[in-house]
Amino acid sequence: MSKGHMPKIDSMTVKQASSARLFRRTILRWYGTYGRDLPWRRTRDAWKILVSEIMLQQTQVARVIPKYEAFLSKWPTPKAFASASLGEALSAWNGLGYNRRCKHLHVAAKEIVSELGGITPVNVEILQALPGIGPYTARAVASFSANADVVLWDTNVRRIALRYFFGGEFVRSAPNDEKLHGVLDLSLPKGRSRDWHNALMDFGSAVCIGRSPLCASCPLLRTCIAAPKFLRGLSPARKLVRPQARFEGSRRQARGAVLRALAAAGTKGLRVTALRTLLRSHDAESIVNALVREGLVARRGNVISLP
Ligand code: ADE
Repeated sequence: MSKGHMPKIDSMTVKQASSARLFRRTILRWYGTYGRDLPWRRTRDAWKILVSEIMLQQTQVARVIPKYEAFLSKWPTPKAFASASLGEALSAWNGLGYNRRCKHLHVAAKEIVSELGGITPVNVEILQALPGIGPYTARAVASFSANADVVLWDTNVRRIALRYFFGGEFVRSAPNDEKLHGVLDLSLPKGRSRDWHNALMDFGSAVCIGRSPLCASCPLLRTCIAAPKFLRGLSPARKLVRPQARFEGSRRQARGAVLRALAAAGTKGLRVTALRTLLRSHDAESIVNALVREGLVARRGNVISLP
């Protein structure tokens, strides 16, 4: 073949492929030494992994562990959970927050029983068709239970890849999703999706952490684009992820307080007026109405209870 007809090799792709190889190798090696032993990593059961992933959305690992264990010893299968009342489910969820997740999981369990013979699917498309299961959760279940070669785009994974391959928060314009997904696809070690994603989660929570990553002790220090800037103490040009809204005094906290009070009150429920002291500056009617609309609370006249 003459030189003029040689296929053009995109130098960026070659560079990224070799960078991705190093990235993969280094993180997997780090994981071999520092990986965490977490309860949902000791199982391949898709139901258990689904429960863990739903709980881990927006709730920290340490808070999830006891809830995960209690939940699954009570409801080890979708069938068992589907036959619980929503009130019982919400009581068990107490303390995890974001109660809509629990309601969706309850509806999903019923659908798994009625449509899928009680077997939690591991196929991304089938999972995503279930209520409350988005692309991230569907991929997480497929990866962690079936070791499927799919990439998870959670905040940890995105943050690490953004910093390593693109300079993270130090570059003014972020790469588009296509570019970011491109490097993550390149990095995925085929046949080791489970280990790989566990490794990224752990690396993101121990080394490449949100605000002040520990670059000085990072095994990727020499090749990471963002590391020299962190080490020189430069100010980031932008934020990578939006900080979570304040919890104290928030509507979310008030909603949680209502559900906790109802769990304690049991079947007799509570009068809406009794919530006024609990909710202080919040509009009790508006909070209760939203919970009723979402099906998290049942109302008869002025008395409310868990469904
Ligand atoms: N956050 C979401 N999924 C997780 C997992 N499987 N392990 C640790 N943290 C997580």
